[in-house]
Amino acid sequence: MFDSSSDQPQPGPNNAGNPETADAQGHWVLLGRADDFPEGSLSPATVEGRTLMVCRLDGRFHAWADYCPHAGRPLHDGAMHEGRVICRHHGNTYCLATGRNVDDPRNEPPLKRYKIEQRGDELWVFLHAMFSAT
Ligand code: FES
Repeated sequence: MFDSSSDQPQPGPNNAGNPETADAQGHWVLLGRADDFPEGSLSPATVEGRTLMVCRLDGRFHAWADYCPHAGRPLHDGAMHEGRVICRHHGNTYCLATGRNVDDPRNEPPLKRYKIEQRGDELWVFLHAMFSAT
């Protein structure tokens, strides 16, 4: 994805939020403290006008657009069970590790994933330039 031998800016906290150093694909943004997202949590987070759903599952962080592909409702208020989130609006179920709709993966689109990284005590999320605000 990125050529480390080039002069292109690399994604990471050094280019976060700085339009002069962020690359054309997007940029990293500080989301918050990792401790603010306890194990088993499903939390909404708003970053630069985008609404995300962040979960901590088996010690790993995942970030998704807080948007159910079925009818566009928020997902963060769904029920979390065995690594899945069940949308409270019509019951579609998504795997929180892959984003796939587990009931009908062939016909229902997956969740929109955001890259997320823990760096020390901090969580950083990559905001892709092609994703529209949700
Ligand atoms: S909006 Fe989520 S299942 Fe319909």
